[in-house]
Amino acid sequence: MKFILLSGSFHNNSRSLAILKNMEVFFGEHEAEVLKLDTLPFFSEDLTLYKPEPVREFLSRINTADGILICSPEYNHSIPAVLKNAIDWASRPAFNSILKDMPVSIITQAVSPVGGSRAQAHLKLVLDSTLSKMHMCHEMMIPQVHELFDNEMNLVNIKARERLEKHVTDFVEFTHKNRTYDLNVEQV
Ligand SMILES: Cc1cc2nc3c(=O)[nH]c(=O)nc-3n(C[C@H](O)[C@H](O)[C@H](O)COP(=O)(O)O)c2cc1C
Repeated sequence: MKFILLSGSFHNNSRSLAILKNMEVFFGEHEAEVLKLDTLPFFSEDLTLYKPEPVREFLSRINTADGILICSPEYNHSIPAVLKNAIDWASRPAFNSILKDMPVSIITQAVSPVGGSRAQAHLKLVLDSTLSKMHMCHEMMIPQVHELFDNEMNLVNIKARERLEKHVTDFVEFTHKNRTYDLNVEQV
């Protein structure tokens, strides 16, 4: 199966991006690819007829995915704009987009002890509107995230690695059970 990994931030020391890159190995035989979202223009209905190249590329990658794993920070008690913008692009046509029936799993992280729980709740609400299939699981929130890496952004905290590996194993199984293959390429 093929998994797309989406980060909520893209700066040089992004912990979300680092978590996803550290997690690629947990997908084993499956394909796992991190997509860049900061090259997408802001969604506008004016751009939907002749979509800019980065948008077409993004949508075609999502279209061939079996599942999507998101890792995001919390920004001002909600979702970073770059991630919301990407979801908005993928969400059209409403209720019949490439996100419909797509298995999706969420990880949030924060320096705080609550691990981005508000961003997690908001992401669920947003994805609910796309009719994607939410990975029902013990919610994956990573608190005190700054303590988990070495200087090269390797995830060196054993407990965090074990939690994340189990999360991937569960999500792969969930995807296997829940993915339907009526992919609708012309929507891209
Ligand atoms: C604009 C902005 C808003 C933030 N708002 C929150 C917040 O509401 N709650 C929180 O726990 N952390 C907040 N933070 C801190 C980040 O979520 C935290 O540092 C996170 O680990 C950064 O993740 P990243 O490295 O993937 O960008 C905010 C950071 C920024 C830049």
